[in-house]
Amino acid sequence: MMSNATLSIGGTNVEMPVLSGSIGPDVVDIRKLYAQTGAFTFDPGFMSTASCESSITYIDGDEGVLLHRGYPIGQLAEQSSFLEVCYLLLNGDLPRQDEYANFTRTITRHTMVHEQLSTFYRGFRRDAHPMAVMCGVVGALSAFYHDSTDIADPEQRRIASHRLIAKMPTIAAMAYKYSVGQPFIYPDNRLSYSGNFLKMTFGVPAEEYEVNPAIERAMDRIFILHADHEQNASTSTVRLAGSSGANPFACIAAGIACLWGPAHGGANEAALNMLREIGRPERIPEYLARAKDKNDPFRLMGFGHRVYKNYDPRATVMQQTLREVFEALKINDPVFEVALQLEEMALNDPYFIEKKLFPNVDFYSGVILSAVGFPTEMFTVLFALARTVGWVAQWNEMISDPAQKIGRPRQLYTGPTQRDYVPLNQR
Ligand code: ACO
Repeated sequence: MMSNATLSIGGTNVEMPVLSGSIGPDVVDIRKLYAQTGAFTFDPGFMSTASCESSITYIDGDEGVLLHRGYPIGQLAEQSSFLEVCYLLLNGDLPRQDEYANFTRTITRHTMVHEQLSTFYRGFRRDAHPMAVMCGVVGALSAFYHDSTDIADPEQRRIASHRLIAKMPTIAAMAYKYSVGQPFIYPDNRLSYSGNFLKMTFGVPAEEYEVNPAIERAMDRIFILHADHEQNASTSTVRLAGSSGANPFACIAAGIACLWGPAHGGANEAALNMLREIGRPERIPEYLARAKDKNDPFRLMGFGHRVYKNYDPRATVMQQTLREVFEALKINDPVFEVALQLEEMALNDPYFIEKKLFPNVDFYSGVILSAVGFPTEMFTVLFALARTVGWVAQWNEMISDPAQKIGRPRQLYTGPTQRDYVPLNQR
């Protein structure tokens, strides 16, 4: 039901429509506010601002709910596959069997990258951070696949989306191979999406690579858990970059750049380092005390979230996946026991209860990825690989919207007012 909100400003009352989505908070439509009043709204960090309309992903942070096109993340992680989730995010509904088979075939057939793309890697120092390499190489895709960059053509947008999803594992694995000085491994289209990625990352030409089904499943789940997350910083970056009509591959490179930051994609590395530093369950109370101490900058990494004020539903699946990986690899690492006990103690501690601090997706993911054999610098790369589908789905949704406009925020200016230029020799 449509209602209005009234804002009183400078003695004038302005009526603004209140819009309701299918679920979630209503939004006050302030689009005409400036024209009617000459005032902007001020919301750095987007604490109260919906930046767009979207029908892809829904989060209820208070209840700990994450839905993709209406499907709970737990059900998708348990029963679906990453490629099926990709189809769902891109197309809006789960595929029928024939649609799934076609989609899988299409993605599988796009896994190779232009041979010349490999020369890009050689331009980087060996010790370059793989996220730096990802930014460069993914941006460079625009120069190689120019035939899919007319963003006004839905078919070209679809092809660009497929290319990105298909090639990202190849590009990510090549970034890893380059960093360790091993030859690039070509994709093997007999394998699943995750199995193929594992082979391209950990295989070597001198030996047969056997995909461990438990690890393959774990990777697939980790990809599902990271596939999309509504209007987070990197997704908003992709949307903003894309709103000017920019090249899709360049837009995804912008998303990768944003994801690289420690406040976004880098927290799982920090969580793993913290668990290793704690080392033994006996030391947990000491670290809990530090996390609660206002005078100590230490925070419990992998705990707390801007949106989730309840258990992050992805953390539940991560904990289960961690168990499965440790069992499959017969790992007996004290870090797991530290993680479990730390979680339990924090969840029963009044400080964490009162501030609604729960484990987030990063609390367990670093431990799993490290057990599988990924160095910490690769963690964010894996996140980027999985989030690519969310980025392209959101980008495509934006471009398809007839009401789409270039994103152009305004500001509260606090700099000097107009003043006259003083020549250099008179200053
Ligand atoms: N350990 C101890 N105290 C914490 C923690 C934590 N991990 N997180 C928040 N708090 C406390 C803060 O000190 C603050 O206390 P105060 O109200 O007494 O000042 C209160 O809880 C609220 O914290 P904010 O930082 O204001 O909350 P915000 O929503 O801005 O931050 C964030 C969320 C950045 C995730 C924060 O919880 C944090 O730093 N967590 C650790 C890092 C982490 O795990 N990041 C991953 C996020 S998930 C992702 O990006 C995929």
